[in-house]
Amino acid sequence: MDVEGDWESYLTARARAGLLRVRRRVEARAGMEYRIEGRTYVNFGSNDYLGFADDPITREGAAEALREWGTGAGAARLISGDYALVRELEEMLAAWKGTEAALVFPAGYMANVGVLSAVAGPGDTIVVDRLAHASLVDGARLSRATLRVFPHNDVERLEAILARLRGRVFVVTESVFSMDGDCAPLREIVACCQRYGAKLLVDEAHALGVYGGGRGCVVGAGLERVVDMVIGTLSKALGSQGGFVAGTRGLIEMLVNHARAFVYTTGIAPAAAGAARAALRELMRTTERIERLWQNVQLWRQQMRNIAVRGAGPICPVITGSAAAAVALAESLARDGYYAPAIRPPTVPRNEARVRVTVSAVHTPEQIAGCATSLSRAYAAVMNDEVHGEIHECA
Ligand SMILES: Cc1ncc(COP(=O)(O)O)c(C=O)c1O
Repeated sequence: MDVEGDWESYLTARARAGLLRVRRRVEARAGMEYRIEGRTYVNFGSNDYLGFADDPITREGAAEALREWGTGAGAARLISGDYALVRELEEMLAAWKGTEAALVFPAGYMANVGVLSAVAGPGDTIVVDRLAHASLVDGARLSRATLRVFPHNDVERLEAILARLRGRVFVVTESVFSMDGDCAPLREIVACCQRYGAKLLVDEAHALGVYGGGRGCVVGAGLERVVDMVIGTLSKALGSQGGFVAGTRGLIEMLVNHARAFVYTTGIAPAAAGAARAALRELMRTTERIERLWQNVQLWRQQMRNIAVRGAGPICPVITGSAAAAVALAESLARDGYYAPAIRPPTVPRNEARVRVTVSAVHTPEQIAGCATSLSRAYAAVMNDEVHGEIHECA
């Protein structure tokens, strides 16, 4: 998006439209309790699905890596050498995802941008689900391939698009959509790609640690040998920071040579790799946390009966329509001590603003019940005001 005029006018216009983004200062955290600007909230806004972001296991994994490897990689991985820690993490990720190899990037965003801009180029076409994450769209744009969009999870329309295309085609989707929490029909998409010879990239950022016994939807559906590129992040259920792509050895070695977001950036920090490795080891040892997550999801959804929520997993979008109503709903929750973010355009389509609640394995039943009660009460009030015109989008 272009910022027209001076920056102050841009910010004023964003604020007037109720779309200004601000950073909230978190002063302390303990598990899911966050002190934000002087008040304590139970956080229902993070992607820390399994509670690994603040856990003795991952803290120790990070500390061990820090002691052994220091604080930084020092340079790009091809320049100053590749820490054995990161190579071990990649081998574990590949084994976990059922692929030949994996490559770690310093962020999931960079994995998407790096992979798509490397595999596709001018003359190719990338066909993307309408709700795909910004990093997938940015990667597709950077590749200079032609970008086509298919309606969300609509395999028939995808097929109609593929039937008309010539040349190299890549299909891009998420397995679990970040803002809606619903799952892609992966088997149908795979079959469709196979019919037309299109390569498939699936972003599993929100599926890892949650679906398929923690190994994601691709493995859950037995598709690990047929999906060409699987993206994951270390930053959500694994509680660390970083991203990765899993696929064939040929794909990975091509990316080592050609993905600019890999070649031209400093390697992942040892502490981040160490924390992710510790979380992975724990998930390979036991699925107990994942089971606790799903118990909490069930508890939460049982209490959401009076609100139509999409999806069936830990991401629970409560659609308000207007951005102003989403902000009012988030503010009402905050007054009761629960933090969940209002998500507004352009992150979600116009008139589909929402409060995005995410449930974690480490929420207590009391926290879940408290947030559900607060949300149900606030939703009724906010939507009533919305219908009677008392909540206005700013001009
Ligand atoms: C679907 C999806 N892909 C990729 C990313 C980027 O991952 P990271 O936060 O590790 O950069 C996100 C996170 O916002 C996401 O939701």
